[in-house]
Amino acid sequence: MATRTRAAFVALVVAATLVLAGCGNSSSPDMLDPKGSEAKHIAGVWWLMFGLAAGVYLIVGGLIVHAILRGRRRARSEDASVDAPDSPRFDDRMITYGGVVVPLVILFVLAVVTVRTTDAVRKPAANALRIDVVGKRWWWAVTYPAIPFTTANDIHLPAGRPIEIRLTSDNVIHSFWVPQLAGKVDTIPGQTNVLRFSAQKPGTYRGECAEFCGIQHAHMGFVVVVQTEGDFQRWVAEHQKPPLEPASELADEGQIAFQTLPCAGCHTVAGTSAQGDLGPALTDLGERPYLGAGAATNTPSQLSQWIRDAPSLKPGVLMPRITMTDAQARAIVAYLESLD
Ligand code: CUA
Repeated sequence: MATRTRAAFVALVVAATLVLAGCGNSSSPDMLDPKGSEAKHIAGVWWLMFGLAAGVYLIVGGLIVHAILRGRRRARSEDASVDAPDSPRFDDRMITYGGVVVPLVILFVLAVVTVRTTDAVRKPAANALRIDVVGKRWWWAVTYPAIPFTTANDIHLPAGRPIEIRLTSDNVIHSFWVPQLAGKVDTIPGQTNVLRFSAQKPGTYRGECAEFCGIQHAHMGFVVVVQTEGDFQRWVAEHQKPPLEPASELADEGQIAFQTLPCAGCHTVAGTSAQGDLGPALTDLGERPYLGAGAATNTPSQLSQWIRDAPSLKPGVLMPRITMTDAQARAIVAYLESLD
């Protein structure tokens, strides 16, 4: 018995260590560290549910331990009156309150809080900034109709202003989730769902696709860059200006190679003849932290590998291997890195 108790204790410690190790990873987005008004509401509901569940667990666990100890005391004692069983009336009352009344009260409280929270996080705001997001295979197309400007996997927005993200998909169902800023909302083909929130603190927040959507579901991430209103206005102004000519001879060669190889057939670079819409727009590729929706980091060497052999970094990606010379690859990397 003692061996079994020790084994159970060791298993409990190992499980708790693994669970807590998951909480300490600062790079993973934590919905319990909310930085948006809607995310705060949702975290509040989570803590309430956790508190109630923990309370029920402790009470039930305590009753089980009490029953075991009482049974042992009775078994050891000759005197049948020691720790005699409680009366049937007491048992009936425990079943009525513990099994019916208390669960009903808990479920009622949770239902009211959930409905009120859902209502609060959906409330439209008059001066909201609208952003259109389309779930692709496996990346996110992001359009600002008011600028107008289209990018991918990299969403800039101002802190403090209400945001309205209109979500849809042109393939399967995905789910758009930035745990620190708002709840998750599915992107569904043929339907537009709206996510409303406002971010409270400038910073970079990671988002993920939260609905299994195929082989590269795990690499369908994005970043949300929350800026001060002033920084955001500067970002908008930069993307309203006509694009600059490539700054170096190498980048200039890269633009020509980009337009002669198949690249321009699938990708858009605003203000140039590259106007493909199968792949992500690359107009600001130079300022994005990741390639392939989080499959690789945006460094010259990873970008070089990506443009020549994207499937080696992201198996299943729709972008095929592209044959090019080393000189063409170097020039295209210089061109793409110059786009911001
Ligand atoms: Cu898109 Cu999972």
